[in-house]
Amino acid sequence: MKSAGGRLLAGLELDRKAPQPLHRQLYAQLRTQILTGALPSGTRLPSTRTLVSELGISRITVVSAFEQLTAEGFLRSRAGDGTYVDTLWSEAIPQQPMPRPPLSERGAATSSRGTDLFSEAPHSWAPSETESFVASQVASSAFPAATWKRLLARHAGRTDPTLIGYSDPHGHRALREAIADYVNDVRGLGCTADQVIVTSGAQQAFNVLAVLLLDVGDSVIVEDPGHISGRLAFQSLGCPVRGVPVDEEGAVPPEMLGEPGPGYDDGGSPARLACLTPARQHPLGIAMSPARRAEWIAWAQRNGAWIVEDDCDSELRYRGKLLPTLFGLDLSRHVITVGSFSKVLAPSIRLGYCVLPEDLVEPFASASSVIGRPPAMVLQAALADFLTEGHLHAHLRRTRRLYSARQDALLQAIDEQLGHRIDAAPVDSGLHVIGWLREDANDIAVARGLAAGGVYTYPLGEYRVTRQLPPALLIGFAGTAEEHMPYAVGRMAAAWDRWERAKAGS
Ligand SMILES: Cc1ncc(COP(=O)(O)O)c(C=O)c1O
Repeated sequence: MKSAGGRLLAGLELDRKAPQPLHRQLYAQLRTQILTGALPSGTRLPSTRTLVSELGISRITVVSAFEQLTAEGFLRSRAGDGTYVDTLWSEAIPQQPMPRPPLSERGAATSSRGTDLFSEAPHSWAPSETESFVASQVASSAFPAATWKRLLARHAGRTDPTLIGYSDPHGHRALREAIADYVNDVRGLGCTADQVIVTSGAQQAFNVLAVLLLDVGDSVIVEDPGHISGRLAFQSLGCPVRGVPVDEEGAVPPEMLGEPGPGYDDGGSPARLACLTPARQHPLGIAMSPARRAEWIAWAQRNGAWIVEDDCDSELRYRGKLLPTLFGLDLSRHVITVGSFSKVLAPSIRLGYCVLPEDLVEPFASASSVIGRPPAMVLQAALADFLTEGHLHAHLRRTRRLYSARQDALLQAIDEQLGHRIDAAPVDSGLHVIGWLREDANDIAVARGLAAGGVYTYPLGEYRVTRQLPPALLIGFAGTAEEHMPYAVGRMAAAWDRWERAKAGS
């Protein structure tokens, strides 16, 4: 029989000034000693009386720590013979823990995000600065905060089961109806509210669709260059992505590229799904031509494949007419449309939607509630009112005017201050322009150099799948005030000069 005595007492340090009560401190320190093997199993602990007098604490402190440790299986008391370290914990747990397994291959691929530039920007970018050129940044000063606060307050005080309990996995009915009205009105989708499911933004919709429609190894067609996060959702499920090029009519269908090509996997089978941005190709900004739309729908029908139509910011249009969605054109039900309030309102509210063919609605709702429960009800209820009371339309009218003016100011400032380095043309919609660089420039190095000077842009090179692309930067205009634009672009020019000088000197 081993005796702890002085060894145990020497290892205990109780701090009377600490916020944690003494019995919790004693409990935690004894537990650590048992788990680390400092008090091996079978060790007899000093008597309560000894601990009381040696540590200067009350009997109740010792008794309550011992009772807790006994209840958890760390200690065992033998009638008339004292208290011992139980074998349960000390023998079951090896003294030298083995290394933990590494991340899964999918986990490592998913968590690396494929780029370190994106992970840098949000950390060092100060949200209070207005001169951000980050591509998907909205104008925070234009956010309708007073209305949003009022609508949130209206629902935050409700205690009915709809607001308090687990909510409908399809989403709040009032919001589904409001979204159906909105997309039918603005985008001509021609759907019913029953076909709309509310999601935590487009990203959740991509993840649910990947689980629902694809098996590991199924290949997915994406645009090259294309939206990074959407592509990662498919890749992280173990589905290889194959990039199709984008020309002046939009994404090129695989059959125009020949066989074997990106439309087929290594065994020659056609891809099972294509994820496209027809309204406004992301990131290049091209609107897909009507002929291309017909070709993609024919491709899906011929090959029994799905099309996920990412329609996340087409409402932010400054000129020209919007073409109908693939969803609205496809009568054979091969198309699913994904939408988001991230760009039309704010990315932080994490609300989006998926419009599905009728037979996919219930499978999607079930899969969605396995992968992540529906968004917070108070947000859904507030957004439903925001739409039905016409606030979104008013906000869109305001931000369209604002962003259009900001775009003009950006292009003018680039022309005046950076025309020797950047060639940028106006875009009809969206929140960024493409700033083409000189042929020999390395856009990733430029973006990194600018970021080192506190100016954030995204390099086009980060959006590529396999295709070599001319060097360019995505330069967001929505986050910088019109009158601030010359100064902001001046900062970019100065950061560029500093970086060039540092390069030349090194
Ligand atoms: C092409 C594209 N799809 C989707 C989204 C929206 O994603 P989420 O709703 O997850 O914020 C964005 C936003 O930046 C985007 O650029």
